Formats: sequence, structure tokens, C-alpha cells
Amino acid sequence: MAEQKKILRALAGETLSTPPIWMMRQAGRYLPEYRATRAQAGDFLSLCYNPELAAEVTLQPIRRYGFDAAILFADILLVPQALGADLWFVTGEGPRLSTITQQADFDKLKPVSDIHEVLNPVYETVRILSRELPSETTLIGFAGAPWTVATYMIAGRGTPDQGPAHALKDENRPLFEAVLERITEATIDYLSMQIEAGAECVKLFDSWAGSLKGEDFTKYALEPAKRIIAALKARHPGIPIIAFPREAGDGYIGFAKATGADCVALDNSVTPEWAAANVQVDGCVQGNLASSHMVTGGQALVDETRHIVEAFSKGPHIFNLGHGITPDADPENVQLMIDTVRENRT
Ligand code: CP3
Repeated sequence: MAEQKKILRALAGETLSTPPIWMMRQAGRYLPEYRATRAQAGDFLSLCYNPELAAEVTLQPIRRYGFDAAILFADILLVPQALGADLWFVTGEGPRLSTITQQADFDKLKPVSDIHEVLNPVYETVRILSRELPSETTLIGFAGAPWTVATYMIAGRGTPDQGPAHALKDENRPLFEAVLERITEATIDYLSMQIEAGAECVKLFDSWAGSLKGEDFTKYALEPAKRIIAALKARHPGIPIIAFPREAGDGYIGFAKATGADCVALDNSVTPEWAAANVQVDGCVQGNLASSHMVTGGQALVDETRHIVEAFSKGPHIFNLGHGITPDADPENVQLMIDTVRENRT
């Protein structure tokens, strides 16, 4: 029964004796079976749009490790592509997109009603997964938050300081806000379709929220999250939502209450003690082991994993990394982390 899945119990506010666990980027290049399926697909985007193979790579870490959740295999940049942006990945460098610097670039984008034509294979992946996942595994859907997606759409690539997006915000605020608005509306429809296809929870990745300060954080990270969450909860009452305003620092305080999120995901720039006292007091938190431990392993991994489990043990907690696992991680360290989290399981 759905309500017995451990992740859904934690999201509903239950304190479990052993926290459920999954891992950001759990399907990825550190796994040989992922690399083999990706080679079979041809390239990363072909893998994202091939429902059978995308479902296969989503299932690989579940088979290998028995995580409590599977996260849909896709990418936050499929939404810009569905809105008409050009998108390609340069091996060893990352994503490239057409840029938005002026009104004419924005005018070329498609209306939100057109996105499903491109995104339909993703919904098919969700349908396959909801049939094939073990009954105890929660299926998590996701999208990028508007600010983070906008930083890529505006700059045409990943940027260390999100400079081009900040520049557009300062120089042409109506255009910047129009971009955010289009992404917000597309994200509501995209996540809604994932839920209809079988996602049991959705996560909003705001990877660059930390570069928004003061009023900008409120207007461009918090407010869009609040709107998306309200719209999804109106259409799908009870659907749990995880928000990840990465590197928000003090912005994590009250974020769940202000946005209506059921859980806030924490990066590893905050200590678990601080987060337990300031964030977990409002409900479920997820995190926050540094992903570097998946490369280095050993006693430090064990000690830090125990430390995080202990610090969050008084409230609802989902164990995870503070950011995605990296390609140079050792799959055996992932097993060591899981064994450590579950060592006292009763
Ligand atoms: O977590 C999961 O396993 C689910 C799948 C998933 C991917 N990307 C697969 C992926 C999720 C949830 C994402 C989110 C995502 N994508 C974010 C937000 C989270 C974060 O990491 O901050 C961002 C910013 C992106 C955009 C993106 N996609 C970048 C910048 C890159 C290149 C960097 C890199 O790691 O190579 C990607 C590619 C990408 N997305 C890969 C995977 C497994 C690697 C692609 C490959 O196989 O070559």
C-alpha cells in the first residue's frame, strides 16, 4: 500500500527509526551498467527520450542497491528544449543551448500547450516505471525550478556565477520575468503530467538558488516554488513535494512553510545540527552527505554518515547526498553508505 512506503511516511512527517535513503544522480556514469545502456542509446539526450532505456537506467540502482526511491531518468533541460530552445551536450563540458538576450529570442519560444509533443516520452518512462518498480519503492518525478532553468536558457550553458541571468534581470527585468513566467507555467503542466503518469512525489531542483540574495531570493526562488506547489496541490491533492533551494543558507529557514513544500533538501554547506534546529523543526528534511565521500570512502564516510543520521534522528528525515554523485565515485562506497545508514535497522 502506497502509505506504507517509507519515503512517503517520512514526507508525511513520520520519524522513522532508520531513515529511508536514495541518492541524487543515482543513475549515472559511476555505474558500469549505466555507461553500457547510454552507449546503446547513442547519447545522453537519446537516452532521456527513449522510454524503455530511460526506465532501464532508472531501475539499475534500485536493483543494485535497493534504494527506497527511484528518480525518473530525464534532465531539467528537457523543458527548455520542449519550449523550443536548441539543446545539445558537449562531451566533457556540459550542456549548450540557444541563448536569450533580447525580446526576439523570447518571441521564438513555443507556447506551454506545445511542450507535451516533445515531453511525451518522459511520461511514458514514468508509466513503465510505475508498473515495474518494486512495491516498496517510491517513484519521484522532477523538474528544474524556474530560476535555475532560466540561468541555462539565458546564458546558453552552465555558468559559475549565473552572470548572464543576473545581467538580464538587472538590464531588462520585464523580459527576465517573462522568461521565468513561461518556465513556471511549463513546469506546472510538466510535473502535473508526471503525476498523472504515476509519479508519487515530485522534486523541484533549484541548483542555483544560492546566487539569489535578499528580495531576489524571495521573488525568484521562493515565489515561483510557492506557485508551482500550490498549483500542483490544487490539481493533485496530497501529492508530496520536495524543494531543493541549493545553497540557500539562511533562506532554508521557513522555506517549507512559505512554499508549502513537504520536505526541504539540504546541500552540504549547512551542518546537520544547524539544519535540525532551524529547518527540520518545520518538517521533513532530506540530505546531506557530501558527495566527495562517494569518491574517498573509508572511515570518514562511515563517521559522517552516522553523524548525519544521528543529528536528524529526532524528526522526519530522508538520507541523501548534498548534491549529485560524481562520475569518479566508487560504487562500493555507495554500498558502504547504505549499510551504515541501515546498520541498526530493526
Ligand atoms: O538524479 C537522477 O539520477 C535523475 C536524473 C537527473 C539528471 N540530471 C541526469 C543527468 C536529474 C534529476 C538531473 C538534474 C539536473 N540536470 C540538474 C539539477 C541538479 C543538479 O545537479 O544541480 C541540472 C543543473 C542539470 C543540467 C545538467 N545535466 C548538467 C549541467 C549536466 C552536465 C554535467 C554532468 O554531470 O555531466 C547534465 C547531464 C546529466 N544529467 C547527466 C545525467 C546522468 C550526465 C550525462 C551523461 O551521461 O553524460
